[in-house]
Amino acid sequence: MTVEQQTTPLRVHSVGSRLDRVDGIEKVTGRATYAVEHGESAGIVDPLHVWLVQSTVARGRVVGVDSRAALAHPDVVGVVDHTSSPRLADTDNGELAILQDAEVHFRGQIVALVLAETPEAAREGAALVEVSYDEEPHEAELREDNATHRPDSVNPDMDTDTDEGDVDAALADAAIVVEQSYRTAYEHNNPLEPHATTAWWTEEDGRDVLSMFDSSQGVHGVVQALAPMLALDPDQVRVRAPYVGGGFGSKGEAHAHVMAAALAARTTGGRPVRLAVTRQQMFALTGYRTATISHLRLGADADGRLTAIEHRVQEQTSRVREFAEQTGSPARMMYAAPHRRTSHRLAVLDVAVPSWMRAPGEMPGMYAHEVAMDELAVSCGVDPIELRIRNEPDTDPETGKPFNDRRLPDCLRRGAERFGWSSRPSEPRATRDGEWWVGTGVASATYPAMRMPGNAARVSALDGGRYAVGIGCVDIGTGARTVLTQIAADALGVPPDHVDLDIADTRLPPASVAGGSSGTSSWGSAIVAAAQRFRADHGDRPDAGVETTASAAADPAAEEYAFHSFGAVFAEARVHRWTGEIRVPRLLGAYSVGRVVNPVTARSQLVGGLVMGLSAGLFEESWRDPRFGHVVTQDLATYHVASHADVLDVDAEWLDEADELFTPMGSRGIGEIGIVGTAAAVANATHHATGVRVRSIPITADRFLE
Ligand code: MOS
Repeated sequence: MTVEQQTTPLRVHSVGSRLDRVDGIEKVTGRATYAVEHGESAGIVDPLHVWLVQSTVARGRVVGVDSRAALAHPDVVGVVDHTSSPRLADTDNGELAILQDAEVHFRGQIVALVLAETPEAAREGAALVEVSYDEEPHEAELREDNATHRPDSVNPDMDTDTDEGDVDAALADAAIVVEQSYRTAYEHNNPLEPHATTAWWTEEDGRDVLSMFDSSQGVHGVVQALAPMLALDPDQVRVRAPYVGGGFGSKGEAHAHVMAAALAARTTGGRPVRLAVTRQQMFALTGYRTATISHLRLGADADGRLTAIEHRVQEQTSRVREFAEQTGSPARMMYAAPHRRTSHRLAVLDVAVPSWMRAPGEMPGMYAHEVAMDELAVSCGVDPIELRIRNEPDTDPETGKPFNDRRLPDCLRRGAERFGWSSRPSEPRATRDGEWWVGTGVASATYPAMRMPGNAARVSALDGGRYAVGIGCVDIGTGARTVLTQIAADALGVPPDHVDLDIADTRLPPASVAGGSSGTSSWGSAIVAAAQRFRADHGDRPDAGVETTASAAADPAAEEYAFHSFGAVFAEARVHRWTGEIRVPRLLGAYSVGRVVNPVTARSQLVGGLVMGLSAGLFEESWRDPRFGHVVTQDLATYHVASHADVLDVDAEWLDEADELFTPMGSRGIGEIGIVGTAAAVANATHHATGVRVRSIPITADRFLE
């Protein structure tokens, strides 16, 4: 039974210290088992291997699947297509409802599955399946003239449009107006571990049970998505994810391959199946960040005080399932302006479903907004840091609530001091070092602090003053296992090595997704609640075997405040005067994120976010060929992610603070804010270096030679 417990602030000992990763040895010695590495010790005996057959047209119908050649392969044991697949009870989720009819909704859609004794045979078999199509005309290109659909809400459930005051009148009266459009490219999440699932069906007490090891950011979410579609009760599906090699959002929800594994395993008479998505298949199937077009209008007085902010967003969704990125959302709360308007419109295309990628919304939205702010700073001759401080709101402009608390100016000032901002020439194109133009830029960052509902944790007393702590959350490589051990240790008043933490299994108390930078806040609060309740009920000398399961009650006082993290990103850019080559020798982020639970793992998250923002600013771009509907750049050679040679001096620091109204740990979340604003800081630095304003990312060398 789960009780609700009001928490009190944690007395910290281990929290805040540099505890080594508790699973570090498993990882570096190769003993950590990922989704398709589980063997007999985990009950995976004699598995079959599944390979996906994907559509080669972007829209139409499958009119024939000829599997004769594939089935003649000596190691192929089966081919499943829409005529032979197990039926689903519910097909509302158009992304997951695969193999139920002949319709093709996008290029790369799963149209058949091949099962074989080895992965190689499955792959050969998939190449031997002949699929024929009735092809129909498709549309796969986002343009300003086709992004006209108004979604009911934007991710996760925010208003599509907002309109405060009279933006048009304020812009007509403004001394200075910046009116520009900015574009961001399609991006694909590329975690180190591609998506992968092991699945098998058993019968327990006369009921079907589906078990999975899935490379997922949230095991409970996989059950919630799959169980009703398979006509199962949630307790008939068990999902585990003991180790996951990253996700960046793409493993936040189950994609179609997870259902493919469940359906394939249904046909094997109980043999487990392994399905490993390839890197190339990920570009078709496992989510991506939509390209965005942002139309910004800023109105200000002669001193740069904003009177109007308008951010109109155009982006895309898929015909098969809607996803609307909340790109305009940061413009609603970032700066003070009495007149504000935001909107989101979508092109509904014959493409795979866009999805979450690190800081969906904030990343593309703050890129556009923060470049526009730089343009405003130049137009009114105000230093970009001073401009931002002048436009600090007293309360959250969207909700009117006070911030708890908003330390953007502290981040700007502290970062400026460390970066050496005061010696910056105010004019662009003022510094040349040999063949390189040199400049610096700044941008703000923000990310909402989120605590998800539906979390609980279990504390059990073991012998010898030790405790077992269980919660079904997933550590996708962030260090969650480590920081939750620290939180549990402090909450129980024991050293971290007295805590056995058990995670990533739907048989454990429920946990929300490792997403929205909400993991530590949500799961840590549940652990503190369970520990505090346990100690209240059983004291500090409990008998072995006593246990308590609890969830954290929300603090009613927290309703009165707006909770956001903030940051300031500083970049130096060098642009080669003849080739346009861009180098970023220095990147620094200064953040206000509440209390940092572990400086080592936190720094890794923030620096990783900065690197990913640099990568978005200069490199990452998925090219979709609108004639055929597929992504052409479907490997890491053609889709360049920042590598060691691109990443020079990158550092992150944070203010010493604790937000104990938000969580008993005082933490607010750090997974995503590092990417926010970073591309804008780099873009603004390239403008300061060269005097050339590029209004789309990635910024490539040719843009300085035009
Ligand atoms: Mo993150 S993109 O919210 O998993």
